[in-house]
Amino acid sequence: MSYRENALIIKTSCLAEGIYEMWLKTDKMAGEAVPGQFISVYSNDGSRLLPRPISLCEIDRENGRLRIVYRVTGEATGTEEFSHYQAGDAIELLGPLGNGFPLERAKGKRVFLIGGGIGIPPMVQLAKELDDKAVAIMGYRNADTFLDRELSEHATLYVATEDGSLGTKGNVIDCIRENDLKADVLFACGPTPMLRALKAYAKEAGIECWISMEERMACGIGACLACVCKSTEVDEHSQVKNKRVCKEGPVFLADD
Ligand code: FAD
Ligand code: FES
Repeated sequence: MSYRENALIIKTSCLAEGIYEMWLKTDKMAGEAVPGQFISVYSNDGSRLLPRPISLCEIDRENGRLRIVYRVTGEATGTEEFSHYQAGDAIELLGPLGNGFPLERAKGKRVFLIGGGIGIPPMVQLAKELDDKAVAIMGYRNADTFLDRELSEHATLYVATEDGSLGTKGNVIDCIRENDLKADVLFACGPTPMLRALKAYAKEAGIECWISMEERMACGIGACLACVCKSTEVDEHSQVKNKRVCKEGPVFLADD
């Protein structure tokens, strides 16, 4: 079930260059959300009609709070507008949306949580719910990292940076190889080239691979087909080999 709610912004801050967080007080959403789901965030500027999809970074069900972490994509964009919001402001949300990660696939297994860039935020709630059992491998551009403190509190954390200023120099797969890490199942979110490379790596290593996809979205609720991607199976809704990332996803088994 998803809701359209007016949420109250409780806290905002800048976590790294161009990366911001927002804690939101909601009525119903936080109580029902699961890791890997996202919310659609509406702009207060009437010229921006479409909401912006942002993953849930943390879910505080007890206190009805959600945390989102986002990158400002440029000047005069929706995310730039959000970065000026302050505690006490109201914001309109739709959510929770999408399917979330299949936590049951991790039971009794060795788990990798893999995040790249702005794909890192959903890994925080996942790490919390897996309760110290996962190995988290996070890829950043450089040592200006974010969410590494939270991840290291709830998982065993390894870091890769493109410029080698922290952890392994290179990407998340270089980091796995350098540290000789092993897993049975992996959950990943990040840029498409990283997800493609992880799919190939997981196949070779015999690891079950779940990826969270990012597609441009409009309605966010499965009605407009703006977000379809090709799949191996016929989709129940459209009867073709397509899946709606906002509805059937954003998390898919990589082989699908
Ligand atoms: P503009 O370029 O001005 O946006 C123009 C339009 O294109 C808007 O409707 C916008 O929503 C859409 N759009 C642009 N880029 C994207 C994109 N990459 N994905 C989807 N729609 C896009 N970003 C984060 O920083 N943190 C997150 O946790 C996060 N989670 C996401 C989860 C999902 C399921 C998806 C699909 C995207 C996620 N994104 C996340 C990307 C985020 O939605 C875009 O960066 C944001 O919509 C850009 O909006 P803008 O107004 O700043 O940019
Ligand atoms: Fe409209 Fe997915 S964004 S169907």
